[in-house]
Amino acid sequence: MSHAAPLRVAIIAGSTRPGRKADTVARWIHSLAERRDDAVFEVVDLADHGLPLIDEPVPPMAGMYNKPHTQKWAATIASFDAFVFVTPEYNHSTSGALKNAIDYLFAEWNDKVAGFVSYGFNSGFRAVEHLRLVLSELKVATVRSSVALTIGEDFTGQTYTEFTPRDTHETYVTAMLDEVVTWGTALRTVRQG
Ligand SMILES: Cc1cc2nc3c(=O)[nH]c(=O)nc-3n(C[C@H](O)[C@H](O)[C@H](O)COP(=O)(O)O)c2cc1C
Repeated sequence: MSHAAPLRVAIIAGSTRPGRKADTVARWIHSLAERRDDAVFEVVDLADHGLPLIDEPVPPMAGMYNKPHTQKWAATIASFDAFVFVTPEYNHSTSGALKNAIDYLFAEWNDKVAGFVSYGFNSGFRAVEHLRLVLSELKVATVRSSVALTIGEDFTGQTYTEFTPRDTHETYVTAMLDEVVTWGTALRTVRQG
């Protein structure tokens, strides 16, 4: 079945601390994604949403969002068909900021797809595996192909502040986005019943 509207993919920058790398990595993924014509890609930066630690009185499964910041975040996530989570590894998991942002919502994530771009001194694989578990509870399908950036190899300079991704990563970005678009298109039919 074909759809008139292009698939909408959010590239979520998943950390918020000053000096973070998530925004730089998200913009790089966006620059590569923009070469494609099979979906529309937008960066969604957690830092722009200023979400406090979850402060909703009713659990998100009820969909009774009380706070303006939750309603804005819900409207943002609801507007996308698919996600690319750009996640650091913090203590062998994802960032608290990203977990908190995920926890805020429920229905807006359901029956959608996610791919991952991780980074850390050990490439962030454990953050991705944790995210897969978390997202399964939210009925998000996660694709196999992912992109793993290594501090020391893909970030250089004395304090690793220069982003110098190795060329080989572009192949992995393409593979991950291919799967996100394919599954994202398929799952849109599920949501439309
Ligand atoms: C609280 C904290 C915990 C970290 N834990 C890990 C870790 O478990 N494994 C790892 O490879 N890197 C770890 N790092 C290094 C980060 O992956 C690296 O600093 C990265 O740039 C953090 O993401 P951000 O710049 O977007 O905040 C940690 C960094 C922080 C701030």
